[in-house]
Amino acid sequence: MQKNIVVIEGDGIGPEVTRQAIKVLDAVAEQGGHEFTYKYCLMGADAIDKTGTPLPDETIEAALNSDAILFGAIGHPRYDNDPTAKVRPEQGLLKLRKSLQLFANIRPVTTYPALQHLSPLKAKILEDVDFIIFRELTGGIYFGKKETSADGSQALDDCTYTREEIERIAHLAFRQAQQRRKKLTLVDKANVLETSRLWRKVIQELAGSYSDVKLDFLFVDNAAMQIILNPKQFDVILTENMFGDILSDEASVISGSLGLLPSASIGKGAALFEPIHGSYPQAAGKDIANPLGSILSAAMLLDHFGLHKEAGKIREAANWTLQNSFVTKDIDPVNFYFTSTIGELISDYVGGKIPGDIHKENIELRKSTII
Ligand code: IPM
Ligand code: MG
Repeated sequence: MQKNIVVIEGDGIGPEVTRQAIKVLDAVAEQGGHEFTYKYCLMGADAIDKTGTPLPDETIEAALNSDAILFGAIGHPRYDNDPTAKVRPEQGLLKLRKSLQLFANIRPVTTYPALQHLSPLKAKILEDVDFIIFRELTGGIYFGKKETSADGSQALDDCTYTREEIERIAHLAFRQAQQRRKKLTLVDKANVLETSRLWRKVIQELAGSYSDVKLDFLFVDNAAMQIILNPKQFDVILTENMFGDILSDEASVISGSLGLLPSASIGKGAALFEPIHGSYPQAAGKDIANPLGSILSAAMLLDHFGLHKEAGKIREAANWTLQNSFVTKDIDPVNFYFTSTIGELISDYVGGKIPGDIHKENIELRKSTII
């Protein structure tokens, strides 16, 4: 298989985690005789520094012509506390989502027994948690009309949804539920918002075509509570842009580390894959960030190419590192491995260089030779 991948390393720890995902993709390519070519492009604070704009036209052009985009992270503290900044790194990501029509952001939430102690939730609540959030990504308040009055004393962000915007992501979410435990939960605020009432109406209409899926509805405030109280009740959660942004960060802490979760943003053409963590500027360049979010995003990218066996192998390798305590500093602040070492261990595992049943002591030897 021949595929063109645009790589946007982005800001902060983006470059170092993305490099590990590329190592793993290279190992997959070598094993399976595939050819992945990478085109490196700019976006975010990095792009503002180098070109004056958070999303240069060349990046959009390259992304539109690619098979997939692997993205690192976006954001820089120098913009976060400056509400007057006219140009912001995040504008790059929002514009890329819109340009590529990446209307569905998909975030699986899985728990790892080896990491249960890091979760703020009790072990009993964590058992069997396995759900996936479908967040609408190119509509709603994020992309509505924005205005500040001339005297600066009033501001407005419009929230609009069309039936078509709701339907296209709803079909994806229903189909995903059919392949899972056949439950779909629409999260909205239909007791207050007109847009939410449209979501409910459209979803109820579509439900007839997916009669094997059990559909239920939750108001977003209640959903925020239920995700913590009883997360195993969820299978597929479908929601609009802003609610999805908030709930997916909330859900991400369930697993014990934000550093582990991947995401996919899909639309009509090329899809984009990125870890859900931010740019974590304090760790940038130190080789301590957790690369699993990026590596597991590469696994989602392979799934998107139909390479399910290869994607499964990467997940197996990631589990194997966690079970054997080959973890980064966010997971074990005392006995930790470096970002690059985890990348090497996983690419070696995927490349068949580490047998699955190898003894821990042998890897300890290996550790001393790598670090
Ligand atoms: C996310 C992020 C973005 C968003 C930011 C960086 C614009 O929080 O992908 O969830 O709000 O969508
Ligand atoms: Mg977010």
